[in-house]
Amino acid sequence: SAAEKGGYDYFMLKEIAEQPKAVADTLLGRIDASGSLTLDEVRIPPRVLREIDKVVVVACGTAFHAGLIAKYAIEHWTRIPCEVELASEFRYRDPILDSRSLVIAISQSGETMDTLMALRHAREQGSRVLAICNTNGSTIPRESDAVLYTHAGPEVAVASTKAFLTQLVACYLVALYLGQVRGTKWADEIRTVVRELAKISGDVERVLETMEPVRELARTLADKKTVLFLGRHVGYPVALEGALKLKELAYMHAEGFAAGELKHGPIALIDEDLPVVVVVPSPRGRSVLHDKIVSNIQEIRARGARTIVIAEEGDEAVVPYADHLIRIPATPTLLQPLVATVPLQVFACELATARGNEVDQPRNLAKSVTVE
Ligand code: G6P
Repeated sequence: SAAEKGGYDYFMLKEIAEQPKAVADTLLGRIDASGSLTLDEVRIPPRVLREIDKVVVVACGTAFHAGLIAKYAIEHWTRIPCEVELASEFRYRDPILDSRSLVIAISQSGETMDTLMALRHAREQGSRVLAICNTNGSTIPRESDAVLYTHAGPEVAVASTKAFLTQLVACYLVALYLGQVRGTKWADEIRTVVRELAKISGDVERVLETMEPVRELARTLADKKTVLFLGRHVGYPVALEGALKLKELAYMHAEGFAAGELKHGPIALIDEDLPVVVVVPSPRGRSVLHDKIVSNIQEIRARGARTIVIAEEGDEAVVPYADHLIRIPATPTLLQPLVATVPLQVFACELATARGNEVDQPRNLAKSVTVE
């Protein structure tokens, strides 16, 4: 009913709008006044966490993209090697695991069979399993050693939005917590990031307030056959997520690429007027990445593509090469996916509507897939 949708036409729109609160709720009570993390739910003793020599993230769909982003954070803040694998592939390739491996299973529903089978396999090998889950008491957390719940609230639309953002928050918290427990040399940076995380809900809110031009743009692209998405570093999984959303909702062909791979193949796809969405990393900090992506944008524009550029406020270097410029607030590099994903959700939702698709219940998809 309209009341259930809180006045929005679709659950997806309501859930996109709820993201600032979902992000804030997932942080609530997990950072103390001194800026330390207090993750009491992670009932794996610090003694065990200090011995972990490998982290493996398993998940499916959008949750897998959260896992890809987690890898950058975990390796950077903890220096523990981290692999990310599609749960459906992981189980069947005889992965190398032991009691010093920490497996993180990410699942909104907590009922995805592929992810459940992967975690069962990991536990059989003696690994600890930490679930990141949005559904209290569901199977995946029940079968895990510990669970960090995301507090997105019920997500009804099949395409995941607020659950994804809260999965990212949970992944950052786990990465920072591991760093804290293990006393890595990044202690100062960790404190700074914790402070930035506390502000991020307001940044998501600001992105939501500026989405009208994104909707207008989406409507003009309703008759396109393909949209490409490019990113680097954590912007690469964001590009994958942008492409997945478009497939799920708009039933359009879409692909995400690592921008550095463009020259190794995908550039052959660039055609006159092909829409290419580029997620640009911050020009501060990792400026090498930024410069490289700016030259990627130049290259695709020189071949006639229509460039849709998502870049930080104040990033002037992209202006000459952007046919459409979508601004996002400045954040630390690793946290950028929390703001950069939002325009892509809005973009896919609006394109789906413009194409007359059922936004909340896309064809052939289920919210939770309980078969392998
Ligand atoms: C289904 C949904 C996807 C979701 C995936 C994983 O395929 O359609 O939107 O990302 O399952 O779901 P989970 O509940 O494990 O996060």
